[in-house]
Amino acid sequence: MKKTLVLKVDSQKPQMEKICVAADFIKKGGLVAFPTETVYGLGADALNSEAVRALFEAKKRPLDNPPIVHVGDVKDVYRLAREVSLKAEKLMKTFWPGPLTLIFKRSEIVPDVTVAGLDTIAVRMPRHNVALALIRESGCCISAPSANLAGKPSPTMAKHVLDDLDGRIDAVLDAGPTNIGVESTVLDMTVDPPQILRPGGTPYELLKRMIARVELHPVAVADRELSVEKARSPGMKHRHYAPDADVIVVEGELSSVVVKVKELAEFYVGKGTKVGVLATDETVGYYRADVVKSLGSRKDLRVIAKNLFRFLREFDLEGVDVIIAEGIPTEGLGLAVMNRLRKASGYKIVKASSC
Ligand code: TXA
Ligand code: MG
Repeated sequence: MKKTLVLKVDSQKPQMEKICVAADFIKKGGLVAFPTETVYGLGADALNSEAVRALFEAKKRPLDNPPIVHVGDVKDVYRLAREVSLKAEKLMKTFWPGPLTLIFKRSEIVPDVTVAGLDTIAVRMPRHNVALALIRESGCCISAPSANLAGKPSPTMAKHVLDDLDGRIDAVLDAGPTNIGVESTVLDMTVDPPQILRPGGTPYELLKRMIARVELHPVAVADRELSVEKARSPGMKHRHYAPDADVIVVEGELSSVVVKVKELAEFYVGKGTKVGVLATDETVGYYRADVVKSLGSRKDLRVIAKNLFRFLREFDLEGVDVIIAEGIPTEGLGLAVMNRLRKASGYKIVKASSC
């Protein structure tokens, strides 16, 4: 086990002496966790195969699921990608730095392990001064999956990173909680029209406004389990975002959802199970269970997205056996939230109806 160095930094104006320590680890092939605007990432030099292999190992991540490569300058995209369309250029101009990952055909400088042997590469420029300072100071393109053990909810605080990876990585740059709380939107630019493989911090509606034709892959909606052959992105095949507790998602019209959640909570409490309910400000007062939490108001999906992964982890710390979660509308950031919740539940989705 190695000692994991915790480097506290200012999120707006990161102290360069600490960034340099972290950048040195990256340059030498080490592993550093760092904040982005979405979630914390676990970084390694993307063009160093040994470093990327160590990254997979630290996370216990299956080798067939490539991480996203983070760049600090758009110029780097032209080194990593073989083709960059005008549409992609327009998206980069509009949304970068920001929570949008673009899939391109990859160039020959990219090691196989970095893209898990695929012919394509996922690239994004994060909107966070600490992430950008680390990338620029190290002079590397940085492969960074979310900094959690594979399958666990993504970390939105340095504490979550340490809970999963303390002793397995060289350092973590701690700049407090992340802003968005769900990962970036993954958009495949190698097909026409471009296709969303994972909904995230850049909403579908915004992308549509920018480049009229954008499709949502059925697995991105995640309202049912689809066969592995339909999985276009390797990450689609793996269990994701799952706390130790079982998760059940209840969807439908709000008043019916409340009735169903109450019924399920009563049923599990009656069985002697420790029950958590994931509610919203508008409904939290209706429920009785061992632990009841509100993600925030239904009127502000940004707060709901920001709290989601933290709450899933907190339920585990509180020893809850089953989490009953209310569905929320799949608009804006709501689509990303529901994708994570549905996957966390292993598609245990209950449709509530009034009849
Ligand atoms: O917000 C984020 O995207 C965070 C922060 C750290 O940047 N990163 C993140 O990375 O969520 P990760 O590795 O946990 O998720 C990357 C997703 C996976 O679902 C993976 O399968 C998909 O992107 N992906 C990576 N390369 C791909 C490719 N060439 N083709 C299709 N999907 C790809
Ligand atoms: Mg991840």
